[in-house]
Amino acid sequence: MMLEFKRNILITGGAGFIGSHLVRLMVHKYPNYRIVNLDKLTYAGNLANLKDIEKEANYLFIKADICDFEEMQKVFTEYDIDGVIHLAAESHVDRSIKDPFAFAQTNVLGTLSLLQAANLAWNNKQTEKLFYHVSTDEVYGSLPLTGGYFTENNKYDPHSPYSASKASSDHFVRAYHDTYGLPTVISNCSNNYGAFQFPEKLIPLFINNIRHNKPLPVYGKGENIRDWLYVEDHARAIELIFHKGNIGDTYNIGGFNEWKNIDLIKVLLKVTDRLLGRPAGSSDKLITYVTDRAGHDLRYAIDSTKLKRELGWEPSLQFEEGIEKTVKWYLENQEWLDNVTSGEYMEYYKKMYEREVRPS
Ligand SMILES: NC(=O)c1ccc[n+]([C@@H]2O[C@H](COP(=O)([O-])OP(=O)(O)OC[C@H]3O[C@@H](n4cnc5c(N)ncnc54)[C@H](O)[C@@H]3O)[C@@H](O)[C@H]2O)c1
Repeated sequence: MMLEFKRNILITGGAGFIGSHLVRLMVHKYPNYRIVNLDKLTYAGNLANLKDIEKEANYLFIKADICDFEEMQKVFTEYDIDGVIHLAAESHVDRSIKDPFAFAQTNVLGTLSLLQAANLAWNNKQTEKLFYHVSTDEVYGSLPLTGGYFTENNKYDPHSPYSASKASSDHFVRAYHDTYGLPTVISNCSNNYGAFQFPEKLIPLFINNIRHNKPLPVYGKGENIRDWLYVEDHARAIELIFHKGNIGDTYNIGGFNEWKNIDLIKVLLKVTDRLLGRPAGSSDKLITYVTDRAGHDLRYAIDSTKLKRELGWEPSLQFEEGIEKTVKWYLENQEWLDNVTSGEYMEYYKKMYEREVRPS
């Protein structure tokens, strides 16, 4: 029997870190929505992140590349998509320094391909439609070490190829709203942490290295400041903005939780050593200072008061609680980490899906 759904929501990049948390939340909370997870399954996409929900009746996975415009058009028609939450992206700053073209391709041209597919499919029948772009606070540039926050009115001032590509995609989203009347919304979020994050990123990388007594490479003097948010709080914010946000608007998402890199690393050392049953301070020697990242932004800090004032969102977890849960998760899921670091998951899932990306 064909199931009838009230809405058909396309989530791109749903096999990645944040996307998998969002897909899980939406699948559980909205059994009357069909959640279509579209992901190319790059090195960062891993369907093992969604094992617990893959058999749910309202969940569907499509392996495809957002840059494939014809394929995107087919998806909109075939599944009668009426809402998009777009997360698919190349997301790692260090990789963007080595290969900026991949970032322009996926983040800029891929977003454009999706926007155009949505615009053509919705063709002015845009009531109850929404194109939601999930973006980053890095588009705003860098703040001085003390004082000041990014608000939604900050001018864009990206410095890395990653943030330049996200800034560009944000501009295209606004252009589609202003030029064609496409109903859009954008959110810019601070750094996320939590389960299922690819271990090239600081928190999972360092937990894993502490466990295995490997060096912890700290850029420069470790004085750069980042604002950290628990990933499930980000997913809740996206779900709220998707349903209640103002069309054409931008929302900053963050938890007013700034940490100097070196202080964050000391917290990771303390919690990981304790949970591994090691004496306090026994892994501190692993800290290794390395040459700073080129163009390394000094400080990010996000002002999310608009989201609290207008939609009532607040982070649900204190940082101490979130980091404890996160370290525990990585320590208890060594198999997941091993599969990801060895690349084994890619071989497994590559064989599983018939709907392959067409060569471009
Ligand atoms: N991680 C953060 O701290 C953070 C903070 C703010 C905003 N964001 C944004 O949130 C989104 C998700 O970030 P993340 O950390 O979960 O990233 P991630 O790298 O973990 O996941 C990205 C996903 O996109 C998929 N993908 C990549 N290229 C694709 C393509 N061409 N077609 C289809 N799928 C493709 C990958 O397979 C992967 O599953 C990104 O847009 C990122 O810019 C991330």
